[in-house]
Amino acid sequence: MEEVTLSQKLFVPSLPTLWPSMLLGRPRSSSFQPFAASNVRYFYFARNAVWLTVKMLGLDKGEVLMPAYHHGVEVGAVVDAGATPRFYRVGSRWDVDLEDVEKKIGPNTKALYLIHYAGFPGPAAEMRQIADRHGIPLIEDCALSLLSADGTVPLGTTGDIGIFCLYKTLPVPNGGALTINGPRQYSLPEPPLPPSVSTFSHTVSALLQNLELRGGAMGRGLRSLVRSVGHGTVKAANIERVATGTQHFNRDHVDLGMSPLTKRIALAQDMEAIVEKRRRNYFFLLGRLRDISTPLFNQLPPGVSPLFYPLVVQDKAEVMGSLHAQGIDAIDFWRRFHPACDATAFPEVAQLRRSIVEIPCHQDLSPEVMAAVAAAVREAVKSDRRTRKRTG
Ligand SMILES: Cc1ncc(COP(=O)(O)O)c(C=O)c1O
Repeated sequence: MEEVTLSQKLFVPSLPTLWPSMLLGRPRSSSFQPFAASNVRYFYFARNAVWLTVKMLGLDKGEVLMPAYHHGVEVGAVVDAGATPRFYRVGSRWDVDLEDVEKKIGPNTKALYLIHYAGFPGPAAEMRQIADRHGIPLIEDCALSLLSADGTVPLGTTGDIGIFCLYKTLPVPNGGALTINGPRQYSLPEPPLPPSVSTFSHTVSALLQNLELRGGAMGRGLRSLVRSVGHGTVKAANIERVATGTQHFNRDHVDLGMSPLTKRIALAQDMEAIVEKRRRNYFFLLGRLRDISTPLFNQLPPGVSPLFYPLVVQDKAEVMGSLHAQGIDAIDFWRRFHPACDATAFPEVAQLRRSIVEIPCHQDLSPEVMAAVAAAVREAVKSDRRTRKRTG
C-alpha cells in the first residue's frame, strides 16, 4: 500500500464510511449486543430507546440518577419523557464516583443511569449491586460503546436495560436499540419505518465519504458535486431528512424506527475484525502520542472496542482548527452540560468538557493513514504549545 505523507491531502472522516460491497454482503447472525439479545427493539436513534425506557419502566414523575458527564440528548430524552434527572459525580478519568451515587439516592430515585464512555466500561457490576440494594433498575447506556465488553462481559448485559447506537460505530444510515435483560417482559409496539428518502440520503453520503476516502482528489471532487446537487434537490422537494448525531431531543421523531437497510448492512459486517482494527489503531495512537499529551488511559483493557482516541489538549479550538486544516475530522467531545445539570457542582467534568478532542481510530483507517494522523496530531499539539508560550 502507498505511504500517506502529510503533503498529500488527508481525508479522515470521524465515522466509518460505507463500502459499496457492504450493500451486497450476506447478513449473518452475530454474537454481539444488541443483535444477539433475545428481547430487543430497534429505533432510528438511541435517544428514542431512552425515552421509551422512562415510559416503559414508569420512571416519569420520579428521579433518574445520571452522570454529570453526559452528551445532553440522553438527558433531554429523560426530561421529555417526564422524569427529573439528578446528577452524580464523574472524575477526571471518566471514573464514576460510586460513593456519590449512593449519597444521591433518595426516596424519589426511580432508576440509576450508567454511561459507558467511548467503549471504556463503567462500573456496571457495582452499579448493579447498588441498584439491587435499593430495589431500582439500572439502565446501561452503550450509545458510544457498541461491540465493547468488559473482559468477557458484553456491555449492556448487566443492567435491566441496555441502550445502543448503531450508526456511530457501523456505516449504517440510522439505528438505535433497546434491549431488555432478565425475565421481565414488556410488549412494545413495533415502531414505524423512517422515511426512505432519509435513509437513502444518509446512505449516499456514507458512500460518497468512502469514495473520497479511497479516491483522493477525484473522489473529493465528485463528492462535493453530488453534495451540492443533492442539497438543492432536498431543498427544492422539501424532503424530510432526519439528521443523526444532533444535540437536541425532538419529540416529533420519538416513534421513528430503524430502516431495514441498517440491519442488512450491520449484519453483513465482520464485527470481530472491526474491534480488532479499532484496537490496533488505538494502540498505535497511544504509542505515538503519549509523550506529547498524557493519555486518559494508559492501556486498553481486554474486550474494549474504542469509539475514538480521547486526546487531552489545552486549547480545543486551536488543535481542532489545525487538525481540520489537515483533513482530519476531529470532534469536540461533549463541550456542554445539559441545562438541568449545575456545571459549577462538577469541576472535573467541566475540565473534561474543555479538554477532550475525539481523534478517529475506526475500522476504515489503515496503519498508513494512522501514521499520518499521529503525525498531524503531534504537529497540532506542538503548534498549540508554541502559540500559548508566545501569548502567554
Ligand atoms: C451517552 C449517549 N447516550 C445517548 C445518545 C443518543 O444517541 P442517538 O444519537 O442515537 O440518539 C448519545 C448521542 O451521542 C450519547 O452520547
